[in-house]
Amino acid sequence: AEPVGPDVEGCNKPTLPSGAKPTTCCPPNLEKKEPIDYVIPNYQTLRIRKPAHDYDDLEKYKKALNIMKSLPDDHPHSWTQQSRIHCAYCSNSYHQHGHTDIAMQVHFSWIFLPFHRWLLYFYERILGKLIDDPNFAIPFWNWDAPEGMELPSIFTDKSSPLYNALRNQNHQPPTLVDLNWNVKNVNTSGDTSGDVKANLATMYRQVYEVKKAICFYGRSFRAGDKPYTIKTGSGSIELVPHNIVHSWTGDKTQPNLEDMGAFYAAARDPIFYSHHANVDRMWTIWKSFGREDITDPDYQNASYVFYDENLNLVRVKNSDAFDIKKLGYDYKQLDLPWLKAKP
Ligand code: C2O
Repeated sequence: AEPVGPDVEGCNKPTLPSGAKPTTCCPPNLEKKEPIDYVIPNYQTLRIRKPAHDYDDLEKYKKALNIMKSLPDDHPHSWTQQSRIHCAYCSNSYHQHGHTDIAMQVHFSWIFLPFHRWLLYFYERILGKLIDDPNFAIPFWNWDAPEGMELPSIFTDKSSPLYNALRNQNHQPPTLVDLNWNVKNVNTSGDTSGDVKANLATMYRQVYEVKKAICFYGRSFRAGDKPYTIKTGSGSIELVPHNIVHSWTGDKTQPNLEDMGAFYAAARDPIFYSHHANVDRMWTIWKSFGREDITDPDYQNASYVFYDENLNLVRVKNSDAFDIKKLGYDYKQLDLPWLKAKP
């Protein structure tokens, strides 16, 4: 079978939700480039991603982001371009290779986890390159443990490049995230703080208790398949807490909970990358339980195209994303209180 992947030559305007300001999402200069197959460098040291509430590389991250934000918009490493990658892959900008009538969609299926892993991988490498630090690692927002259940303070300093104004003002610290938050209640007054015990039980239910890879990752998605929907294709981790934290963070005064609550806009908020780092970390933790993984070739061979930190347009595939140490990074080990939180 042919692998599912984007046809980057056919990048088009995104399909946006109503009320969204028009934008484009396609990376620059695609027509002049032919993607090359990505070869993972041989890493000698690992970047260690640390929790956002206990992150000692904040000055480096700010410096790297300031440089990124100062690059011209059409530079593949600019903040604008970085934030558009996600939009292109979830808002019908690309169609699938060889299927001009079928969109490439990286949500609602088993490609959700590997795609976002690659997205963070290049984001982190580009930031490291901008400050000439090959060990630079992004922070993760560990909403799965009590210390991480507030919106991390590194993102709330208005003078920091990690700040974003478009967030829910009722969900600022010390309000705790509610991993069961219901977006339908966004406008009711009882918008109370989350509950540690309930959050831990949710983690247990969505991660530990989900035994089959296909249920945790999401439904199979093969070349030529039409994208599924949130309800028909998403795995347990994508639905909760992933989607919940997105909508909980977004600004309810915006038409589509921008930025974090809308696919096309989510990656405009620096907290997006830390949210996803924790989703990615949950994948490594789930794998550490030793459960059966997916070996299906259509899963292994799905591919995506990114600009790497050396401005090469590269094609990467799922099977190269399964071992994070091979990708040159790891997560700081922390307690997992939810493992003992069987509801
Ligand atoms: Cu691509 Cu958190 O969504």
